[in-house]
Amino acid sequence: MLRRGLAMLLALLGALVLCGCSGGGELSMRGVSEPGILRCGVVAADHELASRAGAGVLKAGGNAVDAAVATSLALSVVRPDSCGIGGGGFMIVRLVDGGDGREFITAIDYRETAPAGVGPDYYTNGTRSSTRGGTAVAVPGTVAGLVYAHQRYGKLPLASVVQPAIDLAERGFAADAHYAAMSADLIKKFEKNPGWKHRFAFVWQRMLRGGQVRVGDVIVAPEQAAVLRLIARQGRAGFYEGDVARQIVHAVRKDGGDLSLDDLRRYQPRELEPVRATVFGRTFVGMPPPSSGGVTMLEALRIMEAAGYDAGRLCDDAASAHIMVEALKHAFADRARWFGDPGFVDVPVEGLLSDRNVRARAGSIDLAQTQAPQSYGSAEPMSDDHGTSHFSVVDAAGNAVACTETINLEFGSLLSIDAYGFVLNNEMDDFLTVRGEPNAFGLVQGERNLPAPGKRPLSSMSPTLVFDEQGLLLVVGGSGGPRIITGTMQVILNALAGASAQEALARPRVHHQWMPDRLELEPGALGDARGDLEAMGHELGERSEIGNVQIILRRGQGWEAASDPRKGGKPAGF
Ligand code: GLY
Repeated sequence: MLRRGLAMLLALLGALVLCGCSGGGELSMRGVSEPGILRCGVVAADHELASRAGAGVLKAGGNAVDAAVATSLALSVVRPDSCGIGGGGFMIVRLVDGGDGREFITAIDYRETAPAGVGPDYYTNGTRSSTRGGTAVAVPGTVAGLVYAHQRYGKLPLASVVQPAIDLAERGFAADAHYAAMSADLIKKFEKNPGWKHRFAFVWQRMLRGGQVRVGDVIVAPEQAAVLRLIARQGRAGFYEGDVARQIVHAVRKDGGDLSLDDLRRYQPRELEPVRATVFGRTFVGMPPPSSGGVTMLEALRIMEAAGYDAGRLCDDAASAHIMVEALKHAFADRARWFGDPGFVDVPVEGLLSDRNVRARAGSIDLAQTQAPQSYGSAEPMSDDHGTSHFSVVDAAGNAVACTETINLEFGSLLSIDAYGFVLNNEMDDFLTVRGEPNAFGLVQGERNLPAPGKRPLSSMSPTLVFDEQGLLLVVGGSGGPRIITGTMQVILNALAGASAQEALARPRVHHQWMPDRLELEPGALGDARGDLEAMGHELGERSEIGNVQIILRRGQGWEAASDPRKGGKPAGF
């Protein structure tokens, strides 16, 4: 009842604000009355050109979903290592008025899917790779998901939200520091595998400039404009049928994979009920399985709350860090044990988030020391990543989108569709491909996450909305494999403790995923507490980055937005 009233109030406020939201001028981060506070619409992506593409669509009268589609397609061009039309994703959409005057929130699952020819033992004899080449490619979902979201919830014609990405594809983009650093790592892998230079020639020659990428170099793949035009004209058929579909199947099969035209034709996004929980006095709305992100983060937060964690302040002390780490170990142990595609296996979401489970897990935490890995997780229910991207959108009416998309590792499978200028994902590696072996992120996974025809691999992507008593407070999410969950969670905790959007991102972060049993710390994280944590039995390790997070945070009558300095993005709005 309270939420309904608040939603209507927000809709009214949104309409009032909209009256002052038209007009020309350059998009900028300058607020109307307070520096950094934006009132009319904002997009925080991990590349400024993508934020500007989305903000431009808002300025042209589009809503948050129109802007999300424009931002996603722009990212396909300017973050080809992270996400794109060859990959998949998840989107949480919040409409202030779902058509009946009431707030409406939904989760759209356009995760990649195993081809019909791939079963649980496909990878077990070790001859097929789940990380590179044709056998790593799952049926892409991004185009189907975006077109679906746009048809159901967008306002502007599809062609106008696709156009900014077409313009970017024709112009190219300058490599930034993130792109150059990612390329330097990948170039080393190409040098170790010289056959890749021929096999994955498009990535090597065009994306990595033959091993010579420098900051400022212009990366061009104007071919992607052609497929974007097909999508603008034909919707999903422009990708899943016709020449693009034939080229995808040809490329995958020529490289030893098993994807078929039928797999592409049959691909469907799914609309799911988001996972919700109240923690620390706020309502969280997150992504349900096949992402583990929402439930794992909420289970960890609920255990932290039950174990006495103080979310009212920024915590750098050993006792608070210990509670967070122990809660994460429980939640990640449950992730490994219970999660898979809910279309194929039962995932005990309610049991994991239940008071009974949360109290039992919190009660088992030893406040003086950490425990052996087998002590974590629920006995009964009641992999460094560059290949993912998150963006957050809020429009003038208060509609919002939290969207995380991926092609898995950097440049996905490395296999490209040269005629259309994009690369295909390697999302098959997010399945348990070889029993007992961790995936590229070191994640131990259960048999519920074995591949099967039409099944979707488990994900860590965590697009999240957080509400307080005044309405929408945060639109947030990140990239970074399993570090998505921990990175996003800590940014939320920082914001709840009063940090600004930029401070919430800038504070150094920690990560624990149960197995391997090691606590990773960014430089500067938990400085004075490190010795105490070691004394409690935690093995510590350094890691340069724990996730890349984009956040929009309500501040006064407007929104404050920030893109993670670790990846170098920048928000745009007006
Ligand atoms: N590919 C990373 C994830 O979905 O979690």
